[in-house]
This record gives sequence, structure tokens and C-alpha cells, in this order.
Amino acid sequence: MTADEIHAALRGLHAELTVLGPDDLKGRDPGEHPQNFGAGVMALPSSSAAASAAIRWCGENGVAIVPQGGRTGLAGGAVSRAGELILSTSRLTTIEKVDAAERTATVQAGVTLEALQAAAASLGLIPGIDLASRGTATIGGMISTNAGGILAFRNGVMRHLVLGLEAVLPDGTIVDDMTRVVKVSAGPDIKQLLIGAEGAYGFITRAVITLEAIRAFRATALLGVSGAGSALAVIARLESEAGISLEGAELMWRRFYERSASVQGLHLGWLEGDADAVLLVEISAASEAEAAASLEGVLAEIWERATIAGGIIAQSHDQRRRFWALREQSEFIYRDFPDAPSYDVSIPPLAIDSYVATLQRRLSAIDPDYRPFIYGHVADGNLHIAIDRGDIDSEDRKRAIDDAVYEGITSSGGSFSAEHGVGFDKRHGYLAHANPTKVEIARRLKQLFDPANLFNPGKVPFT
Ligand code: LAC
Ligand code: ZN
Repeated sequence: MTADEIHAALRGLHAELTVLGPDDLKGRDPGEHPQNFGAGVMALPSSSAAASAAIRWCGENGVAIVPQGGRTGLAGGAVSRAGELILSTSRLTTIEKVDAAERTATVQAGVTLEALQAAAASLGLIPGIDLASRGTATIGGMISTNAGGILAFRNGVMRHLVLGLEAVLPDGTIVDDMTRVVKVSAGPDIKQLLIGAEGAYGFITRAVITLEAIRAFRATALLGVSGAGSALAVIARLESEAGISLEGAELMWRRFYERSASVQGLHLGWLEGDADAVLLVEISAASEAEAAASLEGVLAEIWERATIAGGIIAQSHDQRRRFWALREQSEFIYRDFPDAPSYDVSIPPLAIDSYVATLQRRLSAIDPDYRPFIYGHVADGNLHIAIDRGDIDSEDRKRAIDDAVYEGITSSGGSFSAEHGVGFDKRHGYLAHANPTKVEIARRLKQLFDPANLFNPGKVPFT
């Protein structure tokens, strides 16, 4: 069917279903990938029943569905093509309840992380997950990719924060599993299959998310370090200090921090000598004064042992914000190098330094001029890697870079994809470097949930 035919057929299907056709989508922002609006037609349910009606119609008419949240995913999971229907969560934006006593939030899937953070903050709570794209990332999208972010080292990833889930399966059945308790030992936990499935097994409509108390009093530092080992020594010491809590530990290797500092206009004059990397750490304590005193005390004690090459503690909220911008505003990479091959891997933290050294050797063997940008969530071993080239059009060369980044990752106990998902872009990584038994089981589950292959076809698990 054409986009216009799908548009005409869906209009009037359900009172809580809005449908946008090709003309309506023109001029709207497709998000991270230019092909996200490729289908040219979008259904926007404002209730689970309306989502189910649209999905049933698609099943009856053989129209494939591409679920979309904030459209800022980085693996092409929201890319759509002619003949498909985009099923968007952007009208599922109700925060149904924030329960302060229970510390839970019940939300529809299209609520952004930032909106949930704001609603929870008014009751002194936070969701316990935070990431750079908080303004656009939706709870449904974060569940679908099993998002991680900056607090994963402490709180786990999205999977660990989801208490309950509601989703519409490809046959239109609504699975209501909106438990509000941590413990569910009642046989296989089906909702776990939908978390991280990137829309392959169903369309997430609602969730119950666990919340924690806000820790408002912070101290933040940038430190020059000699690599991940030195950063991890600082992190371990901060984690063992009584009365404080580690709120962030982000590492930026030299090429990243130098370029980012220049883009941000941040001066790194306090870095003494040679620092292979810059570590951003943030802690919280019972008061701002206690946070600052604890951070200074711990750093003074560990300075030599962790081979710290200079450091600076934020003296104001504005300075703290600028430290975080140095790390979070990584778009400069793609302005300088559009289409730079990009990766998002997990390595057991203590193996990061040897992984980075090996990676640099492997990349130099492909092209001595490659100098990757490397940065990420060092405390949980999640590295973001971007090759400083925007013009790699040979498939063989791309494949060689993929293999240089991924080789040995699974067997070393890491993951070729850490928090951005697989989508369409990481097909080679998934098929060549993921655990083959898991790949096969994911395929069989796809046949079970979606025998007609109507949900996000052409993406993970590539049936
Ligand atoms: C970040 C995104 C790229 O950590 O995951 O900034
Ligand atoms: Zn990240």
C-alpha cells in the first residue's frame, strides 16, 4: 500500500488515533536519521487501545510497523521505508502518577526522560537514570534499547528500573504487566523480553519506573589521568568513602577532550604535563560544603597513587554545567566528520586500557592517520568510539573498522553494543560478533511473537 492509501484507511479507525500523511510530515524534524520518515505515514495513538487497533489493522493488511519514540536513537532503529507505517509514541505523553511514598512513576511510553525527571523532582525524587539526550529520549525508547547512561554503574540500566510494563504484541494483544514491586519470581518474566528488543516483539505503551531520592548537594571535578586504570583507582576510592555517593564518572581520551574543550571554549591550563585522558567525577553529600570537603580530601589522598596530572573542582553551578558540557556535547564530532563510523561498546572496566591500546594499533594498521575519539561511562566500561573520518564509503573498509573495534569483545566478557541498541546500523556487529546462541534464540522468539515479520523488519534480530 502507498502512504496515502494507509493514511486514508487509518483515518477514522479509532477516536484516539491521529494519523499524519506525507504532507503533514513534510517540514517536521525526522530526528537523528534522515530516513526516519521514509514511510511517509505515521499513526499517533493516545491510548493503548488505539495502538492496539492500529496494530490489528496492520496485521490484517500486511503493513509493517516501525515504532518511534524521540527519534534520537543512534543505531537506525527508527528508520522506515515506503509501504510501512510509523507508530509513534509522541501522543502517549501522560505521566499517570508519581507516588512519593512508593517511589514509583507510572507513565505512558512517550514521556521524555526530562519530563519524568521534572515531575519526580517536584516530589524530591529522580528516576535513577540520566543521559545526554534526556530532552528527547522517551521512556518507551529507553526501554526498547535498554538505555544506560551516566548512573548505570550504580543503579544498573533501564531494565533494572522497570517494575512494570504494558505493550501491544504484533497480533494486537495488550500485555498488561504493570507490577509495582521489585520482586517477581512467578515463572519466566515476559516483560524482560520486550526490554531491549527494539520494537521487534511489540510496541511498549506504558511502564512503571522505580524512583530514588534526589541527592541535591554536589561537588564536581575534572582530573587529568593516565588512562582508565588511573580513573578507576579514583572511582574505587570515591565509592569506598563513607557519607558520599558517586554521581558520575566519565572519561574522555585526549583527542576527545582537546577538541571538545576547544569547541566549548574551556581552558585546560590546569592540566600539568601529559594526561592521556580527563576524568569527570561528581559526588553528592549531605551539604555542598561536605561534598566539596570530601572530594578535596579524597583527591589529595589519592593524588599520587592514581597518578593524577592536575585537577580542578567546579566553583559554581555554571562551572559544573560547563564540565558536563565538555563531556556530553559530542555533536562536534559529526559536524567535523559527518557519517564518522561510530561505536558503543562495553568492556569489563579493568580491561579498558589494554582494549584501547589494541584498538589504536588495529586502527593504525588499517590507516596510520586514524585517531579515534574515545569517551564514555568508564565506571561501567561503556566506551563511545568515533573514527575521525566522514568519507569512508568502501564497505570493505567499514567492515575492517567494525572488526577492529569488535574483535574479541564478546569473549572478553564485554558487549559489541552497550546502550544504543543494534537497530539497522549494527547488523554486521550483531551477526558477526554477538553471542551466536543468543542470536538464534532471538530469531526463534521473533517467529513466536511476530510470525508475519511485521514489527520493525530489517532490524534486529534480522529474520
Ligand atoms: C553519550 C551518548 C552518546 O553518552 O550515549 O553521550
Ligand atoms: Zn553514552
